[in-house]
Amino acid sequence: MANSSKFGATWRPDRIWFGGDYNPEQWPREIWDEDMTLMQKAGVTVATVAVFAWSKLEPREGEFDFGWLDELLDLLHANGISVDLATATAAPPAWMAKNHPDSLPVTASGVTLSTGSRQQYSPSSKTYARLAACLVSKMAERYGSHPAVISWHLNNELGCHVAQCYGEDSAEAFRLWLQAKYGTIENLNRAWNTEFWSQRYTEFDQINPPRQAPTFINPTELIDFDRFSSDALLKVYQREAEILRAATPEIPLTTNFMGLFKYANYWQWAEEVDFVTDDSYPDPADPQHPAQTAATRDLMRSLARGKTWMLMEQAPNAVNWRPQNAAKPAGMNRLYSMQSVARGSDGVMYFQWRQSRAGAEKFHSGIIGHAGSETRVFRETAALGSELAGMQEIIGTRNHAKVAMVFDWESWWAIEQPAGHTNLSYLGNFMTWYRPLFDQNVLVDFVPPQGDLSSYDLVIAPMLYIMDDRTQQNLADYVAAGGNLAVSYQSGILDEDLAVHLGGYFGKLREVLGLWVEEFAPLAKPVRSTKPLPEVALSGSVSGKGKVWTETIHATTAETLAVFLDGPSAEGIAVTRNSFGKGQAFYVGTQPNKPTATMLVNRILAEAGVYSEFGFIGKGIEIVRREDKVFVMNHNDQPFELPAELAGKLGIASTIAAYDCLIGIHHD
Ligand code: GLA
Repeated sequence: MANSSKFGATWRPDRIWFGGDYNPEQWPREIWDEDMTLMQKAGVTVATVAVFAWSKLEPREGEFDFGWLDELLDLLHANGISVDLATATAAPPAWMAKNHPDSLPVTASGVTLSTGSRQQYSPSSKTYARLAACLVSKMAERYGSHPAVISWHLNNELGCHVAQCYGEDSAEAFRLWLQAKYGTIENLNRAWNTEFWSQRYTEFDQINPPRQAPTFINPTELIDFDRFSSDALLKVYQREAEILRAATPEIPLTTNFMGLFKYANYWQWAEEVDFVTDDSYPDPADPQHPAQTAATRDLMRSLARGKTWMLMEQAPNAVNWRPQNAAKPAGMNRLYSMQSVARGSDGVMYFQWRQSRAGAEKFHSGIIGHAGSETRVFRETAALGSELAGMQEIIGTRNHAKVAMVFDWESWWAIEQPAGHTNLSYLGNFMTWYRPLFDQNVLVDFVPPQGDLSSYDLVIAPMLYIMDDRTQQNLADYVAAGGNLAVSYQSGILDEDLAVHLGGYFGKLREVLGLWVEEFAPLAKPVRSTKPLPEVALSGSVSGKGKVWTETIHATTAETLAVFLDGPSAEGIAVTRNSFGKGQAFYVGTQPNKPTATMLVNRILAEAGVYSEFGFIGKGIEIVRREDKVFVMNHNDQPFELPAELAGKLGIASTIAAYDCLIGIHHD
């Protein structure tokens, strides 16, 4: 379904969104007034309302009670707080399961998921679709012209608990999806290579979702099910969007994404929303998180393609759902908020306004905690609210990246399938490349495999496992026209049906890279050994260590930058560079360890002529430029002394406190 919205890249919020999920239905009425006072004090501009309110709005099937929500929206409006109104379809009431057990989701092993939690619906359930449509229509009719409502928040974190469903309605929808894709069963047989293991089908209705089976399931069936499941979740959004676009075409729509979420191909989803929103829960105890969170911000900005994106949810302090729930030390709440603004967000929102008193999230932090509002968290959040109120001119300003990384959900799904190569992690390899760029303060855009690459000085394609003809052509054209491309191992291995590119892999890219691969030799950990995963030494004009992977590479026209010194591919080629057309292509046949990745990325940046405006400043120091504003962030628990010249140029203090963010101005 095409996005029939009138909201394009020009739509912007008229003030920075600051606030979060507000669930007053969990609280007595008198608390609401206190909430209003405190929201004003904290500088809240937007509240996301009714996310989990279905059972209160429709206590019995077909019986609606909107009185409390009418009052709430009026109250928020009277207090100058805008509303991001949820469609309330994320958590069906218990009556739905009782009256319509077919609405419940089913796992691959046939277990029906029950009530008492949330999200217990199958994305393909016809009953759920009908009942959700009824609720959404009523919401649109009742609140479409309410002056407080500035956006619709469709469902909530689609797929976060039930990303794939294997029940009967899903089976039927999967067959229809396959029929639409392949037209005839013969086409499907060809694409799925069903001569293998006697899998040939004569009718579409013989096909099931990939339910638990004796052993490995057909890989093409698996990836088609991944594609279908992402589409099925998107369809939940699209069904709601269709109703809302018809009823309230003047209100923009969003649904909150979940960062690097495996089961939803957000490249497709982003086309359907009027603005991109993201939920982000970095673990304060994980030292890798500054870079990983930066990557999700870059992904959101890239998905938005010029449209507004906003941080829709983050925790003001600890979450409650990790094995260990570290608190955010003083400053970190603001630091991660500013990181999102630095990387393009026009809003800073939280889950949730008031911490629950009971229920499964009672120990998940809120802006107002169990102790009330005379707290560090409230004070820090309120101070941020007032700071953001003074930064309105940032709305709609852009970041400009010279480097892009190709991000491909389908390669992610395929490379981590069973019956492939064990221990390969798509995100792990992606971050191997992203992290050194982050450390060097080089801003990265994400691009889909067939995206427009022409504005980038360097494009990195890590583990682009699937390359169809168009992707090969896109990359080849980019290099031919003068681009700099870096490709990692396990790229260009399969076509879109997961059939191997014969003759040394890569398809058309063989010529661009100037090499072919004869044989894979992954670095397996010896069985029964307690030693860590092995590494191999690399030597040449690039030297260091590789891990996870080696292979036998034959250069046709490529120049060797490093060879493997030891390991299963000893003396063979490890890293290459090849001139092609007006550009050049690098190939890396292993996963470099951290120092080696840094060295390699620096070498490639230098050969591509990409110079970081700021360069590496220090461990944990992140610098991002958003037009003339430069955000300097310290992720360390100690103060850091910035180079005097940099501080002087940006007009900021030269000492940055632990977890602080200084905002300077770039005059050029
Ligand atoms: C998600 C959900 C919220 C809440 C938070 C807790 O983001 O959307 O409803 O459960 O997680 O971290």
